[in-house]
Amino acid sequence: MPAPHTTGTSLNDIRRAYLDYFAAEGHAVVPSAPLVPQNDPSLLFVNAGMAPFKNVFTGAEQRPASRATSSQKCVRAGGKHNDLDNVGYTARHHTFFEMLGNFSFGDYFKEEAISLAWKLVTGEFGLPADKLLVTVYAEDDEAHGLWRKIAGLSDDRIIRIPTSDNFWSMGDTGPCGPCSEIFYDHGEMIPGGPPGSVDEDGDRFIEIWNLVFMQYEQFAGDRGREALPRPSIDTGMGLERIAAVLQGVHDNYDVDLFHALIAASVELTCVAAEGEAKFSHRVIADHLRASSFLVADGVSPSNEGRGYVLRRIMRRAMRHAHLLGAVQPLMWRLVPALVEQMGRAYPELVRATPLITETLRQEEERFRTTLGRGMGLLEEATSGLGSGGMLSGETAFKLYDTYGFPLDLTQDAVRARGITVDLEGFDAAMDRQKAMAREAWSGSGDRAQTAEWFKLRDRLGPTDFCGYEQDYSQWDLSCQVVAIVREADELDFVTAHGEDGVTVEVLFDRTPFYAESGGQASDIGTISWPGGRGILVGLHKQAGDLFVHTIHIASGTLAVGDGVQLTVDRDARTRTRANHSSAHLVHAALKNVLGGHVAQKGQLVDAERMRFDFSHGQPLTPEQLYRVEAEVNAVIRQNLPARTESMAPAAAIEAGAVALFGEKYGEEVRVLTLGRSLEGDGAYSVELCGGTHVARTGDIALFKIIAETGIASGVRRVEALTGEAARRHLLDRAYVAESLAAQFKVPPSEVIARVEALTADRKRLERELADARRKLALSGGAGGAAWEVEEIGGVRFIGRVLEGVDGRG
Ligand code: ALA
Repeated sequence: MPAPHTTGTSLNDIRRAYLDYFAAEGHAVVPSAPLVPQNDPSLLFVNAGMAPFKNVFTGAEQRPASRATSSQKCVRAGGKHNDLDNVGYTARHHTFFEMLGNFSFGDYFKEEAISLAWKLVTGEFGLPADKLLVTVYAEDDEAHGLWRKIAGLSDDRIIRIPTSDNFWSMGDTGPCGPCSEIFYDHGEMIPGGPPGSVDEDGDRFIEIWNLVFMQYEQFAGDRGREALPRPSIDTGMGLERIAAVLQGVHDNYDVDLFHALIAASVELTCVAAEGEAKFSHRVIADHLRASSFLVADGVSPSNEGRGYVLRRIMRRAMRHAHLLGAVQPLMWRLVPALVEQMGRAYPELVRATPLITETLRQEEERFRTTLGRGMGLLEEATSGLGSGGMLSGETAFKLYDTYGFPLDLTQDAVRARGITVDLEGFDAAMDRQKAMAREAWSGSGDRAQTAEWFKLRDRLGPTDFCGYEQDYSQWDLSCQVVAIVREADELDFVTAHGEDGVTVEVLFDRTPFYAESGGQASDIGTISWPGGRGILVGLHKQAGDLFVHTIHIASGTLAVGDGVQLTVDRDARTRTRANHSSAHLVHAALKNVLGGHVAQKGQLVDAERMRFDFSHGQPLTPEQLYRVEAEVNAVIRQNLPARTESMAPAAAIEAGAVALFGEKYGEEVRVLTLGRSLEGDGAYSVELCGGTHVARTGDIALFKIIAETGIASGVRRVEALTGEAARRHLLDRAYVAESLAAQFKVPPSEVIARVEALTADRKRLERELADARRKLALSGGAGGAAWEVEEIGGVRFIGRVLEGVDGRG
């Protein structure tokens, strides 16, 4: 146990004490910068306390204070510093952590840095000097001498390290310099040797603070390394590590904050943090922090760049939640525990709580539709493999492509059993799929354009379609612009000048808009962002699953990277959903009424109507049409929730789902179930379908067939209306009946008898009139003029034209 010290030891106490100490030493306390580096394309995430000050070190940026201190949010899950693979299995790796640091920008250098550090650890924090030892870069005699002088350490406690371990750099480029690290000795009972020794990888001597003597800037290529304008100081102390030391524990995951997070996860899953489950709880606790802070700093899960790192972190945690047996999405329910721990120090966490909660919930719901089945496939593929075995790259790729398993998730899943993944095979499968997709595409459409879309697809990954949500509020989604294309050229931004605006094709990381397929028309809607707005005038898929939005920008400038709001036209979508679901009901009703030979031959559903083509030899009788319509309306009135499941097509078809003949389905399809059978048990309609549908059958409200025609030999077509359109149609019909009733002065129910009587009367009157005319004409009484006799060819002839008498005798 460390000696008594003067500060409280909770993580929050230690952070405060550190910042207060350096504030008292003349340092400006700088709030943590966001995790997404500002104006620094070389860095994926802020990975060290100095990153936000990079330009100050190099002299490109001036700040009023030459001394600063901060507690900086860091993520190491990609790029040069990547700890993702180890998290959960070691005592000290995190994807997210806080780095305490003090910085001198050309102000103090080695001597004061060492002196400030020594005073803090041994004074303020009260760590016994005999538990500490330090390293210096092998050539750095100055640092060696200073540690002797300031800390009074003997030579055997100042270890010279010749490797890059004691030369720190931010990334492949940027500020760098030799460094000196302070180690804490956790005691003899823990195996491991001091730094530089053969068994230095043991856990006994733990680095708690790194002091970097910033002296150079590393450039890319031949330019090499150049001296910084002024020697500076950058230090980094992992808050979780120092907390472990000050709380007398050996493992970062035993500090107060992780205790609280793990306790919450234990409570919600009812699984104790023991045995294998311990790793899962740790992964969940760590990844909860990384995911929540990344979302709070504007990253959303996607298939590219930062968004994909976030998705990998989230899904890795979600697999562990699944391992713990969580039946419901878990991560979002842990957010309150995190906010409780860290919300005071990081107010952005409180502000973003609803966004974090929703993002985690949605991602976990989405991933859970394939997670179980993917795990099943993985189990099967590895059942014959022992420790040292290798999972085929083909299977890892299938898990990635079909089940949404990031590669590192698959690696994580087999790691405990000593199994690795064939990475070359994985890459080869990926390349093969890209080539096949390209081939399958060539020949359809315009090739020059197509190749460009494929390049974009390779670079950006597929567009994430988020439009299945039944909840209206989800039809209004924050998305990010990932590419803007005009006439096959990629643009960084586009501006609408004048009143005409400009029309471009835009790709987003995700979209709530449905793109035409399976006979369902594309959505319509709008796009807005702080500086402008536009409308969606067209949407089609390219390269398989890239959603290409044709957007008319009415005002403002739209740039790649912009966050925008995509809003589905709610009314049109609602009507389209009702029409699409009614097509499924019609399909089932036609089979019931006409027989099992009925198969779908085509369909068109949009916001206005539904049109359904099917195989059947003759026109439907009025009675058959009546029965189809009555069945569909009966199922609508059941008002049962629509159910959607994700399944393998073969399993779905075997379970009785209706599939299109000749359709090539993917590995995983959505299966929609509507209503309850009108006779007997079971569902009314079960069909494979990728479209958008009602939440309950009652949302269709009303169904009315308006036409039945033949469109080809053996193919019939019904056209129908639903909801308000059906109501209006019926209203128009009712209006006709009521007007007639008013004219005839009879109740509407008697209009038909009245019209029949009138028609019969009219026929009788016509007949009587014709008879009367004929008689009159033959009797000669009608014309008045005298008969005129002509002689034609020796024959006497009388001619007369009779009006109004028909030719029959
Ligand atoms: N920038 C240094 C590190 O991250 C302090 O270790």
